[in-house]
Amino acid sequence: MKHNTPLLSLCWNVALAVPLLTISGLAVPGESPSLVPRPQKIEQFDGTFVLGPKTRIVADKAGAATGEYLAERLRKTTGFPVPVRTQANARKPARNSILLTTSQSWPVMSAEGYQLEVAPRSVVIRASSDAGLFYGVQSLLQLLPPEALAPGAAGKVPPTVPCVRIEDAPRFPYRGALLDVARHFFTKDELKRYVDELAFHKINTLQLHLTDDQGWRIEIKKYPRLTEIGAWRKSIGFNLDPKSSRTYGADGRYGGFYTQAEMREIIAYARSRHITILPELEMPGHAGAALAAYPQLSCLGGPYSTDTPAGSPPAVYCPGNEETFTFIRDVLGEISQLFPGPYVHIGGDEVNKDNWHNCARCQARMRQENLKTEHELQSYFVRRAEKILNANAKRLIGWSEIREGGLAQNATVMDWIGGAVEAATAGHDVIMTPTTHCYLDYYQSRNTTNEPVAIGGFIPLQMVYSFEPVPAALEPKYRPRILGAQGNVWTEFIASLQHVEYMTFPRLCALAEVTWSPQATRNWDDFVRRLQIHTRRLDALGIHYRQGFSEK
Ligand code: ACM
Ligand code: ZN
Repeated sequence: MKHNTPLLSLCWNVALAVPLLTISGLAVPGESPSLVPRPQKIEQFDGTFVLGPKTRIVADKAGAATGEYLAERLRKTTGFPVPVRTQANARKPARNSILLTTSQSWPVMSAEGYQLEVAPRSVVIRASSDAGLFYGVQSLLQLLPPEALAPGAAGKVPPTVPCVRIEDAPRFPYRGALLDVARHFFTKDELKRYVDELAFHKINTLQLHLTDDQGWRIEIKKYPRLTEIGAWRKSIGFNLDPKSSRTYGADGRYGGFYTQAEMREIIAYARSRHITILPELEMPGHAGAALAAYPQLSCLGGPYSTDTPAGSPPAVYCPGNEETFTFIRDVLGEISQLFPGPYVHIGGDEVNKDNWHNCARCQARMRQENLKTEHELQSYFVRRAEKILNANAKRLIGWSEIREGGLAQNATVMDWIGGAVEAATAGHDVIMTPTTHCYLDYYQSRNTTNEPVAIGGFIPLQMVYSFEPVPAALEPKYRPRILGAQGNVWTEFIASLQHVEYMTFPRLCALAEVTWSPQATRNWDDFVRRLQIHTRRLDALGIHYRQGFSEK
């Protein structure tokens, strides 16, 4: 219903200066709109902004792209034309307009923060950057009736937005999700869809696990066999039903890869949604697909296969062979050129060192470099990878194990099995993704017979929601070293995007709130209340998710 009274307009005019709820008494108390993640501060007022055929978007230069993005979304949902006008230094909203502006931004605004004011006459989103405007837009979309987000909602659901004032900014700069595209392959269009789903939750990084024993998924121009051989395997693997995926080549083999041109398209799509694609190239272990293509880079010479028969030798590169580092330098060089973000993830987890122990070249390397253990040989490998990345103006991220044998100089640790406190105390940045709270491939229920087969474990929604990324044992002065957290979807047992969505949601809604919202406002009961409404948004968007939130 429309409450566009002069009294309310008047009350809105003073909204910038005074908190209406307490001073004017005009606002109606009520439940705050159910945003996920919950904003830092939200006040609701009487009245609504009603989108109509004359509604338009005005954006300053910095907000032009996000203005177009919002227009696209609103056209789909309302059927109205929603024209966009770019206007330098746009400051004041005209009647019936949505203004996106970076001028006169809220004084204490962080790079990703925003202020959103919905009044009966107009909507204003202010931010200091386009990223902030984009997050303001996500909140605005969540203020629409959930069903209005569905394609084809036009004419069926009134596109109204309650009058609110929101001031918001994220708690952590890194809010991530990992998708393993190596164990099972997801197409370019599926990745774009997933990016949209993440952006709706204000996630800003998508780590793509691009290489592993079972698949190499990114074109490297200098080493064509990586994708000719490494991107394909005989079967879907992991005893899955061959019909649970459609990613088969013309010859019937399972797999696929992204050309560099396709990856550029994915990166640009993600970037327009303020998501950085973080590439992960596994080394020195989990290298089976690369070694199937280039077995001379291993200690034993192979053969290796992406079909990984039981009893296969550990798939590790040979750091005794200088040719390995030529390969790593070339691959990381192309990757650094392709991906614009500041980081490249080099994996570094679960390295089986048996081959190194038995390899004459590895042992000679250890003597020559005065390395006492194979852990130190691993550290030598990671340090060389770091030098290559730094020379390409990139920073290295690696899993917990890169601490073994000594941590590379400027490395960022992604903690999955510990080491955060030690790494942060030693002056390294840390991203939290522990198996206790962040493994979204684990079961969501104890009643596993009603669930699709998973790798094991048990991480119900409430467990994710209870996660505190800053370890209690970390001294306060090192706490800023914790950049944020990430939910990981490993896909050994997940071959379709629909199944990825089922494992992701609503657990990533919880992790989005953990990484975005102030710790003090975290409240499980309130989250579940909001989630009842939020899942109607997921329904409207056609996102597959697991129902039933209460299991502990
Ligand atoms: C991992 O789950 N092996 C990082
Ligand atoms: Zn070797």
